[in-house]
Amino acid sequence: MAAIEQIRVGFDNFSYIICCPISKKAAIVDPGYDVSKTLEFISSKNLELEYVVNTHYHSDHSSENKRVKNLHPLAKIVASKADEAKLGMKVDVTISDGDRLKLGEISLDFILTPGHTPGGICIIVDNEALITGDTLFIGDCGRTDLPGGDLVQMYRTLNEKIMSLPDHLIVYPGHDYGDKPFDTLGNQKRTNKTLLTKNLNEFSKIP
Ligand SMILES: [Fe+2]
Repeated sequence: MAAIEQIRVGFDNFSYIICCPISKKAAIVDPGYDVSKTLEFISSKNLELEYVVNTHYHSDHSSENKRVKNLHPLAKIVASKADEAKLGMKVDVTISDGDRLKLGEISLDFILTPGHTPGGICIIVDNEALITGDTLFIGDCGRTDLPGGDLVQMYRTLNEKIMSLPDHLIVYPGHDYGDKPFDTLGNQKRTNKTLLTKNLNEFSKIP
């Protein structure tokens, strides 16, 4: 069973630590703003940092990659192929849709979720949690009006990929924009306006 630590950074960003309690191996997801608190947690629990995963290249999710890599040179930077060029540093493990990494006894399954950015990824942690970056927030989805954003791709990502995942997954978003910091995917399917639209036309009219 995976342990997931949600850590608030910057104004409303979330970084995450995923930990395998058996092997004590850990991954950081989205080291933006200031990774100090996250690194302190890892050293206080004597965890071995194996991966640093970027859900997408935006700096509020990735600006501390270099600092983490300097302090933990054996940790591998993980990102989608499409994001590699944008991150401005060597990516050790490039992710394609459907790839799986093992973190000790835990499985990390990656799905490519374009829409907010072309190379955005979500992570299914051990069939328990779904770390969504800026693809899905509690009550909303990520912006599609920034460079690389694509409303049609976001609609497809939400409808074809996110909606087909099991309800029991706990959604852990990249920003604290909702009325709670995390929620079940089942609740989000019933209440999130961006998951309730019936077609692209309806989706494009959401304010
Ligand atoms: Fe973003």
